[in-house]
Amino acid sequence: MCLLKNQLYFQNWSLEIIGTDISEDALVSAHKGIYNQRSLEAVEDKLLQRHFSKMEDETLWQVKSSLKEMVEFQRHNLMEPMKLPPFDCIFIRNVLIYFDADSKKTVVKNLINALKDGGYLVVGPSEGIYDMLGILKKHSTFLYQKVNKI
Ligand SMILES: C[S@@+](CC[C@H](N)C(=O)[O-])C[C@H]1O[C@@H](n2cnc3c(N)ncnc32)[C@H](O)[C@@H]1O
Repeated sequence: MCLLKNQLYFQNWSLEIIGTDISEDALVSAHKGIYNQRSLEAVEDKLLQRHFSKMEDETLWQVKSSLKEMVEFQRHNLMEPMKLPPFDCIFIRNVLIYFDADSKKTVVKNLINALKDGGYLVVGPSEGIYDMLGILKKHSTFLYQKVNKI
């Protein structure tokens, strides 16, 4: 939704968005794209009306296929290196909270290796990895960039 809203800036880009999870159930659920009202609280009304349709059960909304088709979902274990080409931006949110410190370090290494030089990592508030991101340039508490250190 954010990319579409700012598509003028991305006119010469070929956008590919990949959502990953280790759980097949989570992937099925992501693919369905059905959300209750509470999950969409932070979505502004204009975007809600543009990109979601209200389902028969009036408390649920489903992502329209025009938006869903922009996203590909794939099974991936964050403990393993990413097999896809490096990314311009990676978002991680609400995943690492229960990982032990060594596992977090492995995931952080894999995420950084999966970023292009200059690419950004956006970290959710509950990951508990801020102290492991020293190799990246910190723009804010949640936004980090992979830059060649001189
Ligand atoms: C609390 S949910 C958050 C889902 C989503 N990121 C969100 O913010 O709505 C945590 C997700 O992490 C996934 N997960 C747990 N261990 C994982 C791993 N090693 N690799 C990839 N995903 C994992 C679980 O399957 C679960 O779907």
